[in-house]
Parts: sequence; C-alpha cells; structure tokens
Amino acid sequence: MTTPIIVKKKINVFNKTIRVNGDKSLSIRWALLASQARGKSRAYNLLRSLDVLSALDCLKKLGVKVSLKKNYCEIEGRDLNSFKVKKNTILNAGNSGTLGRLILGLLVHHKSKVKIIGDKSLSKRDFSRVIIPLKKFGAKFKYNLDYKLPIEIHGTDKAKPIKYHEMKGSAQCKSAVMLAALNTRGETLIKAKKSRDHTEILFKYLKIPIKLTKNKKFDLIKIKGQKSFAGFDYKIPSDISSSAFFIILTALSKKSKLTIKNVNINPSRLGVITILKKMGVKILLKNKKKYLGEVVADIFIEGANKIKPINCPKHLNSQAIDEFLLIFLVAAKADGVSYFKEISELNQKESPRLTLGSKILNMMGVKTILTNNSIKIYGNPKLKIEDRIEVKNYLKDHRIFMMSVIAALSFGGNWKLHDPDSIKTSFPSFLNLIKKIQKNPK
Ligand code: S3P
Repeated sequence: MTTPIIVKKKINVFNKTIRVNGDKSLSIRWALLASQARGKSRAYNLLRSLDVLSALDCLKKLGVKVSLKKNYCEIEGRDLNSFKVKKNTILNAGNSGTLGRLILGLLVHHKSKVKIIGDKSLSKRDFSRVIIPLKKFGAKFKYNLDYKLPIEIHGTDKAKPIKYHEMKGSAQCKSAVMLAALNTRGETLIKAKKSRDHTEILFKYLKIPIKLTKNKKFDLIKIKGQKSFAGFDYKIPSDISSSAFFIILTALSKKSKLTIKNVNINPSRLGVITILKKMGVKILLKNKKKYLGEVVADIFIEGANKIKPINCPKHLNSQAIDEFLLIFLVAAKADGVSYFKEISELNQKESPRLTLGSKILNMMGVKTILTNNSIKIYGNPKLKIEDRIEVKNYLKDHRIFMMSVIAALSFGGNWKLHDPDSIKTSFPSFLNLIKKIQKNPK
C-alpha cells in the first residue's frame, strides 16, 4: 500500500518536448526471444518497469543469464529450447498478462513441470485462451475449472505443429502460439484476427522462417520451427501506450503543444491517433524512420478547440485496445454522443476497464450507457469538475490510475487517487514527467 495522491489543480497551458520509456510489448518480446538465441543479445532503452523485470526474473529462474547494466540489458541465450528447468519451478508473472501467456509458449517443449503464478489482478484473468491452443502442441496443463492462475504446464519433447484460429484479435494469444511454433519441428499455421504484429516483425528480422499473408480482417501466418538464430541487439523505441497519456493530456488542454520523441508508431498500435484525428485533434507524425521493421517517429499534438463525437469503427478496437480509457476522456468533452462497440475485451484486462472506466466517467458527472461490450458517452464541451472524487479498489490497474490523473489535470475537481505505485507496472516515470510539464509549462 502506498499513500494516495491528491490532484486538485488543472494543468496550465504548456509547450514541451518529452521522451517516454521504451515500449513494453517490445521489451518483453526482446527478452523472451533473446533467451532462445545463440549467444549474447543486448537491448538499449529496455523498459525498466515491473512487468519487464518480472520477465527477466522468470528467465533467470529458467537458467538464462541476464545482466542489467546502466545503459543496457544483456541476455545470453543458449539456443532454441534450452531452458534449464529445475524441479518444482514456480514463475511469478506479477501483473503481466503478456509475460504469463507468452512464456507458456516457450515452455511447451520442456518436460519438467513449471507452475505460473501472478498477482491478484493477473490471477483473475483468463488463461483458457492460451491453454487451449498450446495443448494442441502436446503440452499438458493443470488448472482450476475457471482456467485461472496458478496453472501448471508440463511440456513435451514430441510437440507437433498445429493449425490455430485466433478470433479475439489478441496479440498475446497469437504470440504465445508463435513462440511455441518457433521450437516445434514442422509448419504451424495461424489464422489470426488483426492485432499488434511485433512478434511477426521480430521473427522476420531474425530470419525465422515465417510467411505472412495479410487479408482485410485476418492474417495468415506460417512458421517453420526449429531454425536457430544468433543473438541480436535492439534499441527499443518509446511506447505509444505510455505516450497516449500525454497525447490526451495535450489534446484536452486548449492552446497547449507537445512533442514526444522517437515513438514506435507501428500501424497496428495507431488506433489512438486515428481516433483522435477523427475527433478533430491535430496530431502530426514527424521524422518517420524505419528501425528493424518497426516505424518510429516524433509525435506532435496541439490542444483541441472543439472535439467531435465519434461512432468508433470496430476495426480500430485492437489498434487502440490499451488506450480506450483515455479515449473515453476525450469523448467526455466532445460535442455530442460517442459510441464504442464490441469492446468486451476491455473487461479482460488488468481490471474490468470498460466497467471501471464508465464508473469514473459517471463520478465525473458524465452520462454513459454501458453494456457488457459497448459504451455510449454523452460528451459535454464545458465539462468542469468541482466535486471530490476518490479512485480506489481498482486492482491497482496502472492504466486506471494514470487515466484518473489525466482526468483530474484536464477537468479539475479534487481527486484522491489510491495506489500510485501502480505506475511501476508500465510507466515508472509517469508522475515525474507530469511534474516536469507542470513546473515550467513553457
Ligand atoms: C499486448 C497485447 C494486448 C495488450 C497488452 C499487451 C502484447 O493484449 O492489451 O497490454 O504485448 O501482446 P491482448 O493481445 O490480449 O489484447
């Protein structure tokens, strides 16, 4: 338990340039893939948040040499399928769904039993989505009726390639299967609803045999397993999901301007920008460059004079999945009613974000109509909060906490926000960056 923070002052107009931390999805993927490489890999600008540190700890427990230095992290891989799994190994995935699910893909081929545990929030999340496809490779699992942590995996040395249809648009499910396919002789075939494609990009860069066919709604991915690859260095670009807090803070602050340097603008993560542009916010992507298959750019944002409501196209859902809480805040200030549909996956995150997001909007005096997979938000361009608002019991969901800070700084009110430590999950420098912007706004 950490002491709650109080936010009771709106942010002043600002004009700033900032950098946010390294991308979380890429940091975890780099670590997991480096553990399967031949020789040393280094990552610069690795995100040093609890989710990534949990990934490094899990790898250490699996016998992988990991050294975290001041400017980089080094992992010494011993080739594919080379974890040294001790008896009764317990891996703690902490708060990270990405880690808990992806690492199972790498454990499919290890015959010793490994137990995965996690914190209170992760222990409420669904693992059937990865257990079901990973079983098809031949791994055995022990789990409770509800498919929640703790679970035990008992891998096989006779894994068979599979055919898998991913229908949720979940990159975690797709990537868990891709990592299992990496170590499996033969060709695994995945038909996946569109979702972030960092794993595909890394596989291509590492020359792991992967064939990609992109259709409008689905991607077809074919992976030929057991092709070993050498260690690789990676400069992790900044995280668009962390940037999003500041993108929205700026969008909601008339006359403010902000540049965020060197952000990964992978199109499968750009939903927040597409949606905000549709709502009338001015955003520019400058100095675009390619880096190892990913696209990186500086993002420039200007505070909006007028925000338009949106009927959000559902094909943008997976591209904005981690940013909806923030997008809801923009909708709260729009001139009309916004509608977001087929977003039940939001309730499968670190907390039930659709339900909690709606509750916070209601506490702010914003009317919503909520179902289990959609929300209508009745915007008010003159929204101003004068009440006391207390945000607690949200399973320490980092994005709920940070969304609340942005709401307080944008709309005023007197907010008491519990568990500020939750930022350590994904964005440890969040509050310091806020202070930096607030201190010398120009
Ligand atoms: C992630 C995928 C998303 C996202 C999560 C990170 C990843 O989850 O919400 O924060 O790194 O693959 P789903 O793939 O389950 O939607």
